[in-house]
Amino acid sequence: MSMKRIGVYTSGGDAPGMNPAIRAVVRTAISKKVEVIGILHGYVGMIENVMKPLQMRDMANIIQRGGTILKTGRSMEFLKPEYRAVAAKNLQSQGIEGLICIGGDGSFKGAQALYAEHKVPVVGIPGTIDNDVYGTDDTIGFDTAVNTALQAIDKIRDTADSHDRIFIAEVMGRNSGWIASQVGIAGGAEEILTADNVITVDKIVENLKASRARGKTSSIIITAEGQKPGRAYDLAEAIRKKSGLDAKVCVLGHQQRGGSPTAHDRILASRLANAAVEGLLAGRHNTMIGVQGDKLVEVPLDLVTTRERTGDKSLINLARVLSV
Ligand code: F6P
Repeated sequence: MSMKRIGVYTSGGDAPGMNPAIRAVVRTAISKKVEVIGILHGYVGMIENVMKPLQMRDMANIIQRGGTILKTGRSMEFLKPEYRAVAAKNLQSQGIEGLICIGGDGSFKGAQALYAEHKVPVVGIPGTIDNDVYGTDDTIGFDTAVNTALQAIDKIRDTADSHDRIFIAEVMGRNSGWIASQVGIAGGAEEILTADNVITVDKIVENLKASRARGKTSSIIITAEGQKPGRAYDLAEAIRKKSGLDAKVCVLGHQQRGGSPTAHDRILASRLANAAVEGLLAGRHNTMIGVQGDKLVEVPLDLVTTRERTGDKSLINLARVLSV
């Protein structure tokens, strides 16, 4: 039997482009005569039954807005089966027959558990600035975050050059080095440090001294935050202790999660969300819609949540060649 009402929610860290995705979910569904309920604050709202109907006109003027009009959350309670049972009951009481989950792999794991225990069909849309979701080349928000970080790096470069300084700029990405490697290439960084690309302090110092000897007066090192935001300060201290070289630190932090989505992210979000609703209504669920090359693909959530998307080391190698 075809669905009459579906729910949509955003979960985990917000990402620019989530609003265009919500807009495309709602407008695609309504065009197929399916009602949409917005679940607020992700799994928190599912457990607390905080939901509201979304109409066509509620989607006006959100395509350009960062953040998520549905709010988001990281729910510890949803990790427990008893809370998932409460959530399933709430979904049933709202007449919700299927879900669209916009988030990262942690959010998809929650959706899978809900399906396994309560048979609520779900289709996932990858939305995270980290670009660390298996099965898709790109995630909503990544491009905007890279561009936001890049603007900051360009500004840092001006002052680094004026003062002949070394800067360590720390970008987000939890365990993922995707923002770091792309910003590193686009920003002409001398070193890019990620979980996949660990470089010893000795090596960094050696490279810095060599570049100074070649006539370079300023240097930018990009480091991914790893699991420890602020680790750039430790690195600066270690470089100073080893070599006496003074490195300034700039932790870019949460500004990378905000701002108006780029055209790329708006288009990606619109395409993924439209396909997600079509898949769900056609009975193809427990999948994530991803993009591989230029094609949209449906990837089983089992794969998405059990496999790792690793970084692209070739980008890091390229940055090194080009930053001489
Ligand atoms: O997953 C997105 C992300 O911004 C990561 O890059 C970062 O490690 C994490 O979220 C920060 O999360 P929070 O805002 O909850 O501190």
